[in-house]
Amino acid sequence: MADVPDIDRLTAQAAAELERAEDQQALDGFKSRWLGRKGELSLILRGLKDLAPEQRREIGVAANQAREKLQAAYDQRKGALEQNKAVAVDLDYTLPGRTVPRGGLHVLTQVTDEIVRIFYGMGFEVADGPEIETDYYNFTALNFPPDHPARDMQDTFFVEGDYLLRTHTSPVQIRVFEKRRPPVRILAPGRSYRNEAINARSYCMFHQVEGFYAAADVSFADLKGVLVGFAEQFFGAEAKLRFRPSFFPFTEPSTEVDISCLLCGGKGCRLCKYEGWLEILGAGMIDPEVFRAVNYDPERISGFAFGMGIERLAMMKYRIDDIRLFFENDLRFLAQF
Ligand code: DAH
Repeated sequence: MADVPDIDRLTAQAAAELERAEDQQALDGFKSRWLGRKGELSLILRGLKDLAPEQRREIGVAANQAREKLQAAYDQRKGALEQNKAVAVDLDYTLPGRTVPRGGLHVLTQVTDEIVRIFYGMGFEVADGPEIETDYYNFTALNFPPDHPARDMQDTFFVEGDYLLRTHTSPVQIRVFEKRRPPVRILAPGRSYRNEAINARSYCMFHQVEGFYAAADVSFADLKGVLVGFAEQFFGAEAKLRFRPSFFPFTEPSTEVDISCLLCGGKGCRLCKYEGWLEILGAGMIDPEVFRAVNYDPERISGFAFGMGIERLAMMKYRIDDIRLFFENDLRFLAQF
């Protein structure tokens, strides 16, 4: 009588071998050793006749089941290896990765943020107001006389009825003063609109930053100190300011402030039109009429205000010679900042 084969042990041995098969060659070896016509299981099946009759059926069934099980395991292993191979062919680990394009902040946003940061360091808070304003906030409360030329259709975009697009950020002064009691120290960046011909130097929409400080004892020297401090931080320590007398309805006295030309340092060049100076802002001591309009007592409260064009500051800082570049959204321009 032949030995009774231990099918469980053989199956476990075959399964372990299959686990280790990493390529087609190993799989082929497995197949012929276990599943082929001369494989272990075939031999057992063929040897059934030598077994005791009562064992034949039991071993036969077990051997056939083991064969099916190993065949299924073999198919699965073969499929898995083929899939790995397909993945391996598609993946080249030496390829450089794909970079995800990143957006950036618009140069005007960056410049505005920097201005805000500098004034924040001098104790200014940020406020804003509506771009659609009324005649009262944009003109009347700021002491523009009824026949002032700035109210003319030439400059102002009128919307409907009493409404207009604000021509400057100065109305934020009125809106803040109405809500707050002194001391107030505010910076108000935002858009302004003027009905002007579009060219390299002016646009129908632009950005301004308004600053103002009202308290018991504010002087012109405070205004100068704040503006000089700002210019040094924004443009560099070599920047010099020049204060020229000027006029605005909402300040008295009023001044326009020039900065020494950043290109020639004041010697005279094309940028400064050979004057050595570039105008950067308007400013002054807040007119008593403005304080009266918001019920501040001009006998007790004084203040300064200034307003500057953000595009203008950005153009000077980065030597940009055409304001239209800011609004054309040409990435070749924007991506430089
Ligand atoms: N609002 C003025 C303009 O748009 C700029 C300005 C001048 C603002 C003097 C001020 C100021 O606050 O005091 O031309």
